[in-house]
Amino acid sequence: MAPSGRSYQISATPAAILAHLIAIAVTTLVLVWLLHFQDGFAFKSLNKLKIFNLHPFLMIVGLIIMGGEAMMAYKTVPGTRRAQKGVHVILHQLALLAGVLGTYVIFKFKHEDGTTKDFVTLHTWLGIITISAYGLQFLLSFFTFLFPEAAAPRKATILPWHVFFGMAIFLLAIGTAETGLVQKSIALKLNLKISQEGLIVNFIGLLISLFGVSVGLSVILPRRGYY
Ligand code: HEM
Repeated sequence: MAPSGRSYQISATPAAILAHLIAIAVTTLVLVWLLHFQDGFAFKSLNKLKIFNLHPFLMIVGLIIMGGEAMMAYKTVPGTRRAQKGVHVILHQLALLAGVLGTYVIFKFKHEDGTTKDFVTLHTWLGIITISAYGLQFLLSFFTFLFPEAAAPRKATILPWHVFFGMAIFLLAIGTAETGLVQKSIALKLNLKISQEGLIVNFIGLLISLFGVSVGLSVILPRRGYY
């Protein structure tokens, strides 16, 4: 089909490939940071930092990366729309599960560590709003598009709002993660001099923003061959 004057005249494929590459880079940097520079992971330990470390891992690699991949499923998964919908739902389910577990883990850490109060930082406020909005969006979308499933005209009316709120919550999650990284950098005094760990944390923040941009672009662009 000839591209119309108002189309972007490019498909979602390059943006989705870029997003995948950034996802690999972010996952690698997060693992290097938490396993090499920090103390690694544990659900139960006398070293409470190991429990804390599960929080950024589950939030970045689980909620943000997996959630972003779920949003791109209609552009990246080959096959029928039914198959794409299946991948979209399963990845969102896993992302939400990681987000809920990551939230549980940070409360567990803070209560066992006992040094700081709950609900005082901007990061906490944004975090609570993000995880609640993600859960609500998932539930409402499940009932509308999957089971028991609304009638076709109603689904068509809700779809643009589903896309809009999906993007808004995803960007909120990225903003929350950025404030979490800044808070942790301050706690670790990483911003006082140039260090390898400081660079890694800064690059994680930078790449998460770029991931958000490339996922957003691939969501608004059409599938290959449909512009
Ligand atoms: C979308 C991603 C994220 C969400 C939804 C989220 C959510 C939360 C929540 C709800 C708390 C509050 C616990 C309480 O008040 O007891 C918290 C604490 C914390 N988070 Fe995150 N978080 C995210 C990403 C991150 C990342 C990437 C880091 C980086 C290390 C991080 C670092 C922290 C720190 C240091 C605390 C403890 C200090 C505080 O209470 O603010 N978070 N997070």
